[in-house]
Amino acid sequence: MSDIKTIGVLTSGGDAPGMNAAIRAVVRAGINDGLKVKGIHRGYMGLIEEEITDLDTMSVSDIIHRGGTILNTSRCKEMMTPEGQKLAADNCRKAGIDGIVVIGGDGSFRGAQRLSENGINTIAVPGTIDLDIACTEYTIGFDTAVNTAMEAIDKIRDTSASHERCSIIEVMGRTAGHIALWCGISNGSEYVMIPERYDGEEDKIIEKIMKKRKIGKKHHIIVNAEGIGDSMGLAERIEKATGVETRATVIGHMQRGGNPTCHDRVYASAMGAKAVDLLNEGKTNRVVAFKDGEFVDYDIDQALNMTKDVDEHLYDLVRRLSR
Ligand code: F6P
Repeated sequence: MSDIKTIGVLTSGGDAPGMNAAIRAVVRAGINDGLKVKGIHRGYMGLIEEEITDLDTMSVSDIIHRGGTILNTSRCKEMMTPEGQKLAADNCRKAGIDGIVVIGGDGSFRGAQRLSENGINTIAVPGTIDLDIACTEYTIGFDTAVNTAMEAIDKIRDTSASHERCSIIEVMGRTAGHIALWCGISNGSEYVMIPERYDGEEDKIIEKIMKKRKIGKKHHIIVNAEGIGDSMGLAERIEKATGVETRATVIGHMQRGGNPTCHDRVYASAMGAKAVDLLNEGKTNRVVAFKDGEFVDYDIDQALNMTKDVDEHLYDLVRRLSR
């Protein structure tokens, strides 16, 4: 057990649906355990600029179902410098914060490592729609984002089928293809393009469209990950090579918003509460994760050294089911 009395919570990096559920859990679990809780606004930026307010149970009322983050978020360059990191830790001490929960992606975890090194007990919670954090099978927001993308692609399929077109749909994921891959399967796409497996495969897509046309297929869904991009250019090239009218749609930031799914609300709540447990146990430099059916925690240094690939079985499934 620790002598922690006041904890802080912040969200950092890209927002993700479910972050509010995690904030609520940190606040309510903390207060329930006799702690004071402070909210740090605008991520690490707000820590450096001392935008810190007291939170009570009512501060987090009516937020579990809302997308975004009530604390706002930022990508903070200052937190990458030793001066910024020291100032952030000093500002925690000044505000009486002796433990902090950082909800964000692996960039945010690096900031959490530095806070920990600077003497503030810090626990990270994985929040990103990209599912690209190696130590965990679940990240806050992925489930909502992938459902949003899937529903958008369903709608595009209706118009694509009506016009007998090929549709390229670009989903989020600058370096990770998890959203694209899951949409590839759930939307019954013919092809999925992801940064982890990209090998300049345009010829294969064109060949597949021609083959499918021959057996009577009238419309085609290609899911492209943001990390590959150039969906408009790809559409032009496919149309030219196949003669099939082709349109590209970039779904964009709508994937980051919206009411979180039940899955995101429940898991984000469990992770937020676990982060408070870890602080109560006197732990620091840990990240909450979901692995093999359990909520667990890892050392952040260890977690950041882990690697993660897309599920080869799922990638293969897209190909098998779209023949
Ligand atoms: O990390 C989440 C994410 O939505 C990525 O999928 C995307 O590449 C990036 O953030 C977009 O960031 P921004 O909101 O700064 O445009």
